[in-house]
Amino acid sequence: MNQFTYCVPTKVIFGAGTVHQAGEAVKEFGGTHVLVVYGGGSVLRNGTLDKVTASLDKAGVKYDVEGGVQPNPRLALAQELVDRYQDKGVDFLLAVGGGSVLDTCKAAAMGLYGGSPIWDYFEGKRPVTGEVPVGSVLTIAAAGSETSDSAVLTNAETTVKRGCNTPYNRPRFAIMDPELTYSLPQYQTACGVTDIMMHTLERYFAKDAGQNQLTDAIAEGLLRDVMENGLVAIAEPENYQARSEIMWCGSLSHNDLTGLGRAKDFSVHQLGHQLSALFDLAHGASLSAMWPHWAQYVCKHDLPRFANLGRKVLGIRCDDDEQCTLLTIRGFMDYWHTLGMPISLSGCVGVQNEAVLKQLAKSCSYGGKRTIGAFVKLDEDDMLEIYRAANV
Ligand code: NZQ
Ligand code: ZN
Repeated sequence: MNQFTYCVPTKVIFGAGTVHQAGEAVKEFGGTHVLVVYGGGSVLRNGTLDKVTASLDKAGVKYDVEGGVQPNPRLALAQELVDRYQDKGVDFLLAVGGGSVLDTCKAAAMGLYGGSPIWDYFEGKRPVTGEVPVGSVLTIAAAGSETSDSAVLTNAETTVKRGCNTPYNRPRFAIMDPELTYSLPQYQTACGVTDIMMHTLERYFAKDAGQNQLTDAIAEGLLRDVMENGLVAIAEPENYQARSEIMWCGSLSHNDLTGLGRAKDFSVHQLGHQLSALFDLAHGASLSAMWPHWAQYVCKHDLPRFANLGRKVLGIRCDDDEQCTLLTIRGFMDYWHTLGMPISLSGCVGVQNEAVLKQLAKSCSYGGKRTIGAFVKLDEDDMLEIYRAANV
């Protein structure tokens, strides 16, 4: 096995009814004045926010509540929260929602601890040196932000979507009550399943990937599990078993367990982020639209790896690696098609002209200043080729 360091300190409180433990969890981690943050209103409609505030009341914890976080969360709102609450004595942030709400809380926590402007942390101009603690009541299984070290924001002024990774981003606790996800629209369930798959796939394709067999086995098992249960949850939104399998897959897929001992690739995330920034496209859709074209572009570098994935996860029986690779890529496309996810630009943002494709490649390469990928390094020209291939 290769060397690795694994430290995921987030306390996971999992299962039906755990939403009622929010107040006690905040107290356990020292919160006395909580800023509760939510999104566009689903938690008002399905009663989740009421359950959370009742639990905070019961625990005797003071709180303020702020809503309005959009998917592809905006820098402006996170900065606004910092400006509004920096002198109010808030000592804990509680996200009630998905990745967008969580990432807004993580970004606001950076600002409340270390000062503004918070975009400096995302541009690497200022280091993150501590945090106001964050916890979550998760309402969608997808981004994995509930245990990840990452926060992703969109700067709407510059149409740039960027992540900031730091151990301080790991939340103190994650309340994962699968019943809270019953109200998800089918499309969001499908986006979430796709994102969970992608967090696993982007770690599966990495340099020296085959050397940690257990890591591979966990990744392959997770992919089989989330794909199977994704179909069940779409057909039966209130199937507790399926919802709980997907929810746990979501955290394990992005807390580094499926990538121990290897450098993750994350090219498809980077390519997808530019689509989300420019077109406000849902994260999961940006990934399924790009993965097949990335895979076709890079697969020749390691056909046995792709073939192994297809044999282990999709059950493909084919001894020829090249043929098996093609069947593997096709198999994932077919799966996403069944989920109702796009597999090219025409399925989500429409076919684009060459100028837009060049803009996407430019912004993905930070104006030609960076490459992406660890499995295969991609420069601006490669990115453009992949966007062109996806433009069907
Ligand atoms: O805003 P509301 O009204 O709550 O509706 C949300 C939103 O429209 C809805 N929703 C969530 N829970 C629901 C529900 N609707 C009904 N019932 C429920 N129980 O779902 C929509 C999407 O929510 P969002 O939080 O955006 O979803 P997700 O968790 O997929 O987060 C996506 C964001 O996370 C980032 C993505 O780039 C994207 O910006 N990511 C964050 C990562 C991280 N921090 O580690 C890693 C990921 O790779 C990803 O980049
Ligand atoms: Zn993702």
